[in-house]
Formats: sequence, structure tokens, C-alpha cells
Amino acid sequence: MTLRLHLLWLLCAQTALLVYVLPMAETRAAERRVMGDVQAKLAYCEDCHGRAAQGFHGYFPIPRLAGQQPEYLKNQLEAFIERRRTNNVMFNVAHSLSPGMIAALAADFRALNPPPLGGGARHLIRTGEKIFQNGVPEANVAACAACHGPEGQGSGEIPRLAGQLPDYVYNKLINWSKERGQNPTEPDISAVMSPVAHSLTRPQVEAVAAYLSYLK
Ligand code: HEC
Ligand code: HEC
Repeated sequence: MTLRLHLLWLLCAQTALLVYVLPMAETRAAERRVMGDVQAKLAYCEDCHGRAAQGFHGYFPIPRLAGQQPEYLKNQLEAFIERRRTNNVMFNVAHSLSPGMIAALAADFRALNPPPLGGGARHLIRTGEKIFQNGVPEANVAACAACHGPEGQGSGEIPRLAGQLPDYVYNKLINWSKERGQNPTEPDISAVMSPVAHSLTRPQVEAVAAYLSYLK
């Protein structure tokens, strides 16, 4: 009797183990597949955005994504898809990303921390720092630090600027209203930056971009 009970118990335990372990193994395999997909996609992004997503100076500057705020990154990818932000290369790239993939990539970029590439003119750093920390009161330009943070780290939908490529920052600020907020049916947060971008002179943009390019 005791032996039969014992055997019965063993049988039940084994079945329970099978019922429990098999789906777990399947879930693990699925997780590994998804992680493999994310790693492959990350490598694809880095083909253009540089090693560890530190940015790349090619025919045109390709921005640093390392350390970027996940919410900003997500909003920009959606902006490319919704044509709020114009860029044909990134429209095509963003179009193929699922929301889950976007979230996974955003978390991975956030975790990367390569040193800044630098590259801005060193004699402009001091002037750039003043503009970043204090704004340009006589031209009604608010301090960049007020929104982007005293160390340019950004928060939420406000981007990190620390370590960004200087020629990229220059291009974005000079072309702001031709590239951002381009879908009239979908007004977005880019409107906040418009007056800032319009009120800066080109030498001021160059100086602030130089300062940011060395910021960690
Ligand atoms: C073929 C080259 C190329 C590939 C591949 C590529 N990008 Fe880009 N990406 C660019 C360029 C060029 C820009 C700059 C667009 C501009 O000047 O407005 C950019 C800009 C961005 C921006 C905006 C950054 C900012 O600071 O506003 C994000 C976010 C982005 N890419 C994410 C990705 C992700 C995620 C991947 C991989 C799935 C990827 N990119 C793959 C070329 C590429
Ligand atoms: C009132 C808040 C505010 C102030 C002040 C401000 N910014 Fe911004 N900035 C933003 C927001 C919000 C965005 C994101 C816009 C978007 O989503 O298109 C942004 C985006 C940017 C970008 C684009 C980054 C990228 O990766 O494409 C640059 C460059 C930038 N700001 C530089 C500056 C500089 C330089 C100053 C100071 C002279 C400044 N900002 C002041 C809110 C601000």
C-alpha cells in the first residue's frame, strides 16, 4: 500500500514537473530569440550610429544615441514614422521597428556610456558653456540648462545633449523649423525649441555645440 502510494506520488510529481518545465523551456527559448533579435538590430543601428552608438562622422554627421533618454528616443522614432520629423533614412529604418523593439533598443542605448567623441573648436568651449548655463538674456534665449539639465543629461522627452556630435547639433539648430514639427495634424514638443533655435546666431550655435561635444 505504502509502495503504491509512493509510486503514485512519484508519477504525479513527474507529470507536474513536465507540465511545469516544458513551457518554461519554451519561454526561455523565445526570450533568447527576442534577445538575439534585439542584439542583431542594435548591431544594425551601430553600423551607422558608430561603435557603442557614440555617433559617427560620415558624409553627414550621425548622432550619438548612447546614454540618450529612452522617452526622447522613442518619441523621435515615432516622429520619423509619423512624418513629424523629416529624414528619409530614419523614416525607412524606424518604419520596420515594432513598439516592443523600440522599447528594448531605447533601454540598451540608455545603458551605453562611451566617452564623447568631442571635435568642437576648443577655443569656443568657454563661450558655449556660458550660453548653455545662462542663455542669452539680451536675445531672450533661456538657459539651455533649464530644460536640458545643468550637465546636459536631459529628462523624459527632453534629449541628452552631453557628448553629442558638434556638426549634428549645429545642423539641427540651423534647420529646426524645416525638420521638426512637420506634421500639422500632430503638433508636438518640438515647438518648445523653435524660439530658442531661431534666436541663436550661427557663431553662438557653433560655440554651444563645441561645449556640448566634450561634455560627459
Ligand atoms: C543608414 C544609416 C542609419 C541606420 C542604419 C540607423 N540610423 Fe538612426 N539616424 C541616421 C541619421 C543620418 C540620423 C540623423 C537624422 C537627422 O539629421 O535628423 C539618425 C538619427 C536617429 C535618431 C534621432 C537622434 C536624435 O538625437 O534626435 C534616432 C533616435 C535614431 N537615429 C535611431 C536609430 C535606431 C534605433 C537605429 C537602428 C534600428 C538606427 N537609428 C539606424 C542614420 C541611420
Ligand atoms: C524650454 C525648454 C528648452 C530650452 C530652454 C532649450 N531646449 Fe533644446 N530641446 C527642448 C526639447 C523639448 C527638445 C526636444 C524637441 C523634439 O522633440 O523635437 C529639445 C531639443 C534640442 C536639440 C535636438 C537634439 C537632438 O538630438 O536632435 C538640440 C540640439 C537642443 N535642444 C539644443 C538646445 C540648446 C543649445 C539650448 C540653449 C541655447 C536649448 N536647447 C534650450 C527643450 C528646450
